[in-house]
Amino acid sequence: MENQKLKDVEGVWQLIRQETKKRMVAEPVLASFFHSTILEHNSFSSAIADQLSNDLSNTSVQPMMIRKIIREAFNSSKDILEATVSDLNAVKDRDPSCKYFSEPLLFFKGFKALQSHRVASWLWSEERHTLAHFIQSRASEVYGIDIHPAAEIGKGVMIDHGSGVVIGETAVVEDNVSIFQGVTLGGTGKETGDRHPKVREGALLSASSTILGNVEIGKNAKVAAGSVVLADVREHTTVAGIPAKEVGEANTDMPAYDVDHSINN
Ligand SMILES: CC(C)(COP(=O)(O)OP(=O)(O)OC[C@H]1O[C@@H](n2cnc3c(N)ncnc32)[C@H](O)[C@@H]1OP(=O)(O)O)[C@@H](O)C(=O)NCCC(=O)NCCS
Repeated sequence: MENQKLKDVEGVWQLIRQETKKRMVAEPVLASFFHSTILEHNSFSSAIADQLSNDLSNTSVQPMMIRKIIREAFNSSKDILEATVSDLNAVKDRDPSCKYFSEPLLFFKGFKALQSHRVASWLWSEERHTLAHFIQSRASEVYGIDIHPAAEIGKGVMIDHGSGVVIGETAVVEDNVSIFQGVTLGGTGKETGDRHPKVREGALLSASSTILGNVEIGKNAKVAAGSVVLADVREHTTVAGIPAKEVGEANTDMPAYDVDHSINN
């Protein structure tokens, strides 16, 4: 299955460099772009720190300062970089429009927002809440995807397109989940404390689905596009509609991997 195709950090980095050299020949107008974003870096973590820091900086917080924080996060725990590479593999594996490993890193805002969240989440765990909120807020402004730094997100997660995705403070998203544009993992407004959804491994949250409250989306479940989910969803089940009702079995092992995610399909 997919795992056979998965690349580790160094494997991904070498592939990205090889691809980039070929693409630079094919598209010379982007030569200096490819140099500054990929080829002049000596590691994957340096390239991603550079990408995110350029995106997340503003007039009062320079890219150099943000790069330092991102490197601190990567150096503090190898889990962060491994999760990043796992997310990159997830996008390459599941999104048929993604032809190169470098594309999510350079162009896909869902991927970049998720990696910004990984940095904000690390800051949150270090009790640096204000800086974590700064990263959250800049990522929300730049990518249009708002993830609270305290939300727990596993690895191998794909946020595709991503515009308008909102993930609340006490939400949990386990490994290998796929999330499309416009998904909300929010509170009902009637609960306090632990008030956001828990999305179990391998689930698919389709475009513009709204999942409210401390409800559980079971392992390998599918939530159809445009649904409003207000109650638990059993594992391996498809739900659709407002309010969402069971409409069938999610008859595959891992729905997050199954949908053809390309916009053309
Ligand atoms: C849910 C989904 C993944 C299909 O899952 P599935 O388990 O294969 O479900 P089926 O296609 O067998 O549909 C089961 C029933 O739900 C209905 N249904 C499917 N999606 C629905 C939706 N979004 N809203 C309402 N009803 C829906 C079907 O019409 C069918 O009803 P029927 O049994 O009366 O004919 C798919 O419909 C969907 O919503 N995909 C969106 C993926 C996405 O976000 N793409 C964005 C790419 S940019």
